[in-house]
Amino acid sequence: MLRPYRAGRLELANRLAMAPMTRGRADDVTGVPSPHAATYYRQRAGAGLLITEGVYVNALAKGGPGIPGLATDAQAGGWREVTDAVHAEGGTIFAQLWHVGRMTHPLTLPDGELPVAPSAVAIEGSRIFTRDGLLDHVTPRALTVGEITRTVGDFASAARRAIGVGFDGVEIHGANGYLIQQFIADNTNLRTDAYGGSVTGRLRFAMEVVEAVVAEVGADRVGLRISPDNAENQLAETDARTTYRALVDALDPLGLAYLHVLRNGAYAAIADLRTRWSGTLVANTNGPAPSSPDAGARLVRDGHADVIALGRLFMTNPDLPARLANGAPLAGPPTENVYGGGAEGYTDYPAATDDPRVPAVA
Ligand SMILES: Cc1cc2nc3c(=O)[nH]c(=O)nc-3n(C[C@H](O)[C@H](O)[C@H](O)COP(=O)(O)O)c2cc1C
Repeated sequence: MLRPYRAGRLELANRLAMAPMTRGRADDVTGVPSPHAATYYRQRAGAGLLITEGVYVNALAKGGPGIPGLATDAQAGGWREVTDAVHAEGGTIFAQLWHVGRMTHPLTLPDGELPVAPSAVAIEGSRIFTRDGLLDHVTPRALTVGEITRTVGDFASAARRAIGVGFDGVEIHGANGYLIQQFIADNTNLRTDAYGGSVTGRLRFAMEVVEAVVAEVGADRVGLRISPDNAENQLAETDARTTYRALVDALDPLGLAYLHVLRNGAYAAIADLRTRWSGTLVANTNGPAPSSPDAGARLVRDGHADVIALGRLFMTNPDLPARLANGAPLAGPPTENVYGGGAEGYTDYPAATDDPRVPAVA
């Protein structure tokens, strides 16, 4: 995992990626990233690939307080310092493009608007974090076909802004029960038009977003994150294997920078999809404990994955690749200051070594 990885435009110092992690520290009104964000990402630039926290692509895409945006040029401008800082350390950074769909609340959206989704299906029995604390979910309203087209365009515009301020690429967030997966899953997409009704229909939005972003910035700058069979956020995918095989078969010829597969359901998606995906595969697992670097190394050794994404361990071990290379002890996952606030719990986790770079491996 600690050796360099090259494929197409990707030239990574090692096969470790920092998984995308929302930290809720952007200016809540402007959506401009935190003044500490450049330091946070620079400290972690020893990762072969940094994937930013989810970044909203339009005003209705925002999921909660302190989430940054790439919906306007002013928001994009705030990321320039981040990309410069990471590049000064020799790192590579992709921006994660996010639309939360129904996973938000009128208090988080402009003018108290209702959240949007493929269909008007509410989350029951769980609450969502807002600036006024945890509140019940509201029933979202279904997007019109015209709005779907505009949303696809918003992903492409956000990608253009990201590349314009120096990101090496973008990762489209198709995982964890947010808008793209709400279209894919059969319990959240009850549409009977071209965007629902069949596997092809339910995959149409994901494909249109990928194709629009590819047309805007080029396939070799685009990754897609998926979490097949992930029941998080009340999704139910009764046919995950069939659906995601169809998605990957449709995506494979496009030549994307990577496919990022998050495993957390019964379906062993990483191993199954690897056989159909000819490009770079980034793998991440999701469970109560942080995913293990050793398990990641096994995935690489067994040929199931090319790059391993780690989340929580990167939060508390900014120099994680160097620690792994040196056999230095690892700090445990974070217990406080995960979302919101300033530098505390964000940029004050110390490095174990003076030199965060991984020693060269022959
Ligand atoms: C605080 C926190 C914020 C997260 N935010 C995002 C996000 O913005 N986008 C995303 O795709 N996944 C997000 N995730 C999921 C992580 O990318 C990752 O899949 C998860 O933490 C499992 O990996 P780990 O065990 O290495 O931490 C988040 C996870 C955590 C802990």
